[in-house]
Amino acid sequence: MINFNILGGAIAAASLFLAAPAFAQTYDPMVALTQSPDAMQADGDAVKLDPELGNLPVGEGAEDTFYQCTACHSTAIITQQRLSDARWDYMWDWMVEDQGMYDPEDETKEIVLNYLKQHFSSER
Ligand code: HEC
Repeated sequence: MINFNILGGAIAAASLFLAAPAFAQTYDPMVALTQSPDAMQADGDAVKLDPELGNLPVGEGAEDTFYQCTACHSTAIITQQRLSDARWDYMWDWMVEDQGMYDPEDETKEIVLNYLKQHFSSER
């Protein structure tokens, strides 16, 4: 009997452990507060910001992102985010479906999403 209980406990512990990576994927609103953009940019090479593009970090996709995303709001609402890749995909769909964002061709979508995931990520 005791052995069964120990086994049950081990299984429960193991499933909690297995659930952890899934939990890490969920949206954590505190991430944006605990990881300031400045702190994140402090490690590694200094990130150059492009004043012509609303101070988005210089890089492939910055221009497409600027024109895709700033028709309705400033870049600040984007640069303050630290989201998982899945969350950026979700954000895109939310902008298109609920906020009326123009849905561009797939190539542009990929460039912009890659840029967002690269620069405003909670995963890397
Ligand atoms: C057609 C207008 C429009 C465009 C274009 C647009 N957005 Fe938005 N976005 C909105 C509106 C409206 C809100 C505020 C929604 C709310 O809080 O209810 C918003 C809010 C946001 C937020 C804040 C979400 C939050 O958690 O409060 C982010 C991040 C965001 N947009 C990212 C983007 C990105 C990235 C793009 C380009 C790929 C983009 N938006 C393009 C209209 C737009």
